[in-house]
Amino acid sequence: MLRIGVLVSGGGTNLQAIIDKVKSGEVSNTEIAFVISNNENAYALTRAQNAGIAAECVSPKKYASRAQFEEALLDTIDAYQVDLIVLAGFLVIIPEAMIKKYKNRIINIHPSLIPSFCGTGAYGLHVHEKALARGVKVSGATVHFVDEGTDTGPIILQKAVEIKEGDTPEVLQRRIMEQAEWIILPRAIDLIANGKVEVVDGIAHIIGE
Ligand code: GAR
Repeated sequence: MLRIGVLVSGGGTNLQAIIDKVKSGEVSNTEIAFVISNNENAYALTRAQNAGIAAECVSPKKYASRAQFEEALLDTIDAYQVDLIVLAGFLVIIPEAMIKKYKNRIINIHPSLIPSFCGTGAYGLHVHEKALARGVKVSGATVHFVDEGTDTGPIILQKAVEIKEGDTPEVLQRRIMEQAEWIILPRAIDLIANGKVEVVDGIAHIIGE
């Protein structure tokens, strides 16, 4: 059984997709051990509580320094002893110590086709604003392992989504969530839980698909 912890900051629709698909068995061999948010008002925490999952807030506001916050975050995660950490709309820069400790054991969902519209400052609605401003005709979502860079780790899954004339960032965000994010993030967890993802020389391969 793969024990996962999910880190969130906001609404938690990706978390909900994971909860629903673990429950239905579409994501197999997986147990959600905790949900942690940096934001105490995140609706994602309510979703976790409703599903009977341990939910905690580790807020930088409660600590005197960034270093203390990062230490508390890592200590809280370590205490749950998980196999995989899932960043599902977690808008905090991941501490380097955590990346080192959990190498190829942290995955992130990003709302574009990496390497487009990613990196520093590309999060949430900003990603879709950038895609629309560039006039691309497809965008999508990417699940990748987290390494020391921003959105630079090995890509596990991607799914393209059509951009339509007249799209606003909000409309595009919702379409990408529905048609890509809520599908590929649970799918990536299922693949990892069933031993089907291997990273060789910085490239993630899906085995036996
Ligand atoms: C999602 O669109 C996710 O891809 C994005 O934040 C949103 C969270 O929504 N993440 C990033 O932009 C990371 N760079 P949710 O809380 O409803 O899952």
